[in-house]
Amino acid sequence: MNELTTGVIEELNAKILDLKRRRNAVILAHNYQVDEVQAVADYTGDSLELSRLAVETDAEVIVFCGVHFMAESAAILNPQKTVLLPASYAGCPMADMVTPEKLRKLKEGYPGVPVVAYVNTSAAVKAQSDICCTSANVVKVINSLGTDRVICIPDKNLSAYAQQYTETKIIPWKGFCIVHNLLTAEMVEKAKAEHPGALVLAHPECPMEVLKLADHVTSTSGMLRYAQQSDAKEFVICTERGLLYNLRNRNPGKVFHIVSDAPAPWDLPMMTCQNMKRTTLDLVVRSLEEMETVITVPEETRLRAKEALDRMLAIP
Ligand code: 13P
Ligand code: SF4
Repeated sequence: MNELTTGVIEELNAKILDLKRRRNAVILAHNYQVDEVQAVADYTGDSLELSRLAVETDAEVIVFCGVHFMAESAAILNPQKTVLLPASYAGCPMADMVTPEKLRKLKEGYPGVPVVAYVNTSAAVKAQSDICCTSANVVKVINSLGTDRVICIPDKNLSAYAQQYTETKIIPWKGFCIVHNLLTAEMVEKAKAEHPGALVLAHPECPMEVLKLADHVTSTSGMLRYAQQSDAKEFVICTERGLLYNLRNRNPGKVFHIVSDAPAPWDLPMMTCQNMKRTTLDLVVRSLEEMETVITVPEETRLRAKEALDRMLAIP
């Protein structure tokens, strides 16, 4: 994945810096992006941090290095700014597991029960939801509603994780992340045996059998904070491997192992999100040169989806 030579990277970085100035653009990159994209970004973060940054920035153009739903959220929150997704075909298979039609049907079975939509959903699905959440705030969001029951879409694993920490009965959707859901207890046990003494950090998109073996479960940026604050020197990481970039940069004295390097069914090692890896420096250059691909949301959908995102962002 990191096949570019230093010279080529420097050349592309210089182009990006120049274009960024000319376009008055800011580059936001998710923690799973390839190393060189994270390196050139103005900010890296988890879904919640990037949503907040998209609202706070003064830049006229936001280059969103991530997947479609993330850029779409930025566009929902910032109709006056131009939001560019350099890899226009970078989607999230989990987000595609729930459609507005299927959600409408489910809601009919539970009248009055609020819908909590993980940000990994389309704008059209958010527009039919009451509030959004991310892996960083799911429990707070559910508890903020003060209801006996909530519908949680689309991640069954995030729902099972949250159910441990709330009295509210969660009605889950059956979606899952195709990367995290492949992880098994056996793989974690193997990593623990290979690295005795290492702490296990896991993302709540992992199945419960994996979460049970973890020392700490949190969002991607939550893992970055935890690793920095911990006295431990060695960690097994149960999330997408792009997080290793910031974990290692910010903690030079500590050792981080990705939980498994076994081949995934799609011809890449485990814990690799193909969609997150679609953004390259070349595409960032092209997106700023051509102002492509602009992400927009029809106004009626945008306004309704924004309500759900705003409610989440209002929670401190
Ligand atoms: P975070 O919000 O924890 O960064 O997770 C986003 C995501 O897509 C995880 O698969
Ligand atoms: Fe979607 Fe999973 Fe990739 Fe995150 S890691 S973008 S949830 S497929």
